[in-house]
Amino acid sequence: MLMDTFNDKWRELQQHSVEVESSHLRDLFASDPKRAESLSLSACGLNLDYSKNRITAKTRTLLMDLAQSAQLAEKRDAMFAGAPINNTENRSVLHTALRQQDSKPVLVDGVDIMPQIKAVRLKVEAVVNQVRDQQWLGYSGKCITDVLNLGIGGSFLGPKIVTTSLKPYVQGGPKQHFVANIDGNHLHDVLTNLNPETTLVLIASKSFNTQETLTNAESTRQWFYDYGVTFEQLNRHFIAISSNVSKAVAFGISGDNVFPMWDWVGGRYSLWSAIGMPIAMAIGNQGFTELLKGAADLDQHFKEAPFEQNLPVLMGMLGVWNHNFFGCQTHALLPYSHYLRGFPAYVQQMDMESNGKSCQLNNEIVSSTTGPVIWGAEGTNGQHAFHQLLHQGTSVVPVDFIQPLVAEHNMNGHQDMLVANCFAQSKTLMQGKTHQQAYDELVASGMEEALAKVIAKHKAMPGNRPSNTLTFDRLTPYQLGTLIALYEHKVFVQGVIWNLNSFDQWGVELGKILGDDILSRIGQPNSTERSDSSTELLLAQYRDANKS
Ligand code: F6P
Repeated sequence: MLMDTFNDKWRELQQHSVEVESSHLRDLFASDPKRAESLSLSACGLNLDYSKNRITAKTRTLLMDLAQSAQLAEKRDAMFAGAPINNTENRSVLHTALRQQDSKPVLVDGVDIMPQIKAVRLKVEAVVNQVRDQQWLGYSGKCITDVLNLGIGGSFLGPKIVTTSLKPYVQGGPKQHFVANIDGNHLHDVLTNLNPETTLVLIASKSFNTQETLTNAESTRQWFYDYGVTFEQLNRHFIAISSNVSKAVAFGISGDNVFPMWDWVGGRYSLWSAIGMPIAMAIGNQGFTELLKGAADLDQHFKEAPFEQNLPVLMGMLGVWNHNFFGCQTHALLPYSHYLRGFPAYVQQMDMESNGKSCQLNNEIVSSTTGPVIWGAEGTNGQHAFHQLLHQGTSVVPVDFIQPLVAEHNMNGHQDMLVANCFAQSKTLMQGKTHQQAYDELVASGMEEALAKVIAKHKAMPGNRPSNTLTFDRLTPYQLGTLIALYEHKVFVQGVIWNLNSFDQWGVELGKILGDDILSRIGQPNSTERSDSSTELLLAQYRDANKS
């Protein structure tokens, strides 16, 4: 990063933000009837209207200059080329190779990884076909009716959310179940409704070392044993997807049933690998191929489009603008789509595990804030829950509204209402309501003037609250691929600006270690070891509640 130029550009943006702060979005729209035309773009079937951000054309230029000075183009190219940009683990970051449409070599340590990717994909396709065509039989000769997916974090959210999002495309395959949580209630409830003879278990764990996944896998294996299934027969019922092949084999899964992953795929970027097998089981191999194609097209767009017409660059830089120059600490994703209801949780993990960091690539602590809190829920439900705060609360929360334009149903009137609600929310956030407007309305409705003055204070809404609206025709596998890749690259862009390694996650380690310590203390009530007084108090309560 050319630090001096970068700092100059940052300062320019700071000065510019003071100018922009004095104008209201309402006025910016009134003074330029073509504002939406100049501050929107379409690519890969996605339309982004970013005109409802507190920006001018100059802001966009300055933000793009900042991206340039952070060497975004060079860093993006280094990622695609397989440079070890995950510097704390000395790893390449190549989820993009998993969806590359041609066989152009991609080198890791001088070895072309494309043949391995192809081989694993063909193997996944073969198993998916066998299961979906009812040729994969359980130990007692019955075909598979249910797939139980065990995994957590990136080994869970991608397959789960994609499968949910593409419900209209889920046809013909076995029923999918996902269990991530160590809370035995979930596994218990799911297993209660399954039959071991017709259940296939997919253990998804890159490390094959994750407490939740291994414990759920062991309990599920025991469930098979309790039913009378032998160790040898488990072969017909367990598949693993992992980069720790030997550990998966030691668990009892035959080598043939272990699908490899690689160090150069981060967990939260892994749905494009064999980790995505549940998606292919649900929608078929053709649908999975289209999902990959959508992501690949977005990759191409990210690589080739000039910054000002580049969806992930624009979304990333607008996020930086709102977060670093207007102090917005959180960012909401509001899909107006029942099928996309899980999408905020998916992006939450991808974004917060990637950029929730304070130490820069140069090993220095950041001087700006990084990684906004990502949250959200589907519209219109959120309107009756937290939108009150979005409109009148003291925190400004930038929003991404996400709206598929064409419905996947024929329920009369629903889609028009859904879309109208979505568009109305961004308009309301943008324009707000002045005290005068509220007062005039109240008086016109017959309220006495003195009271109207008071009540108008409660009804006034500041407006000037930023949002993007992303639309696309239909939520197809292809389009979902583009949408996910868009957010992946947006996160990358922001990581570059904040000078972070977006691909490690050391912050989750200490909690795991302390969790293991505390677990061992639970089983040893007479140990003389002592923890802090709060942990001791909680342990005592736990032991007390569970004493027989
Ligand atoms: O939460 C930390 C994490 O390592 C995630 O990054 C990952 O997706 C998840 O745990 C599961 O890890 P694994 O696939 O190795 O079981």
